[in-house]
Amino acid sequence: MYVATKRTTKILAFSAVLAASAYGLAGVTGAASAPSAGSPHVAVPISTNAVMVALVDQAAHEIWEGGNRTRNLTDREWLLIEQHAVQLAASGSVVSLGGTGKADRGWALSPAWQEWSGKLSTVALEAKKAADTKNKVALRASGDALVNVCVGCHMVFKPDAPSEGIMHQPQLH
Ligand code: HEC
Repeated sequence: MYVATKRTTKILAFSAVLAASAYGLAGVTGAASAPSAGSPHVAVPISTNAVMVALVDQAAHEIWEGGNRTRNLTDREWLLIEQHAVQLAASGSVVSLGGTGKADRGWALSPAWQEWSGKLSTVALEAKKAADTKNKVALRASGDALVNVCVGCHMVFKPDAPSEGIMHQPQLH
């Protein structure tokens, strides 16, 4: 675990340098928030597959559903959206670390994985800002940006069938 952490940190540092020279720092928020060498963190105790279904997907749906409502949102709805945006922002860091799934460590070592995880947090903070200012147009825009992050990462990394068989269950929403 510690070996993997150190290797991850090195790769993150490398990817940050690469991204800084090629694209500027905007896309690598996840890398910037990674633990530094020697500072231990609590390992994610569940798989990325489970995190996706139970945290990322749940939180994202609140943002999409809020943005899609035709009527004005109530104060309570805005507050719930704000809280789910915070969950989503934190989930970017959780996703970046990888969990107990068999493919998780390999994903977490990839600079592209770190970049997509960072984008998840960045876009979630845009949704939070939209909720803080009760701006429906901005909420919809952040929802659209969010779809691009989900799809972008899934196109690169997601296997056809989830590795642990944990699926999104639409009937629960
Ligand atoms: C950093 C990359 C990454 C990002 C960003 C990401 N995902 Fe995932 N997601 C994955 C991977 C990889 C899997 C497959 C995990 C496995 O099978 O072990 C997955 C699996 C899932 C699953 C479970 C499998 C299924 O088909 O039902 C859901 C649901 C899901 N993601 C939703 C989302 C949503 C919604 C977003 C955006 C808000 C998102 N993901 C963003 C990488 C990502």
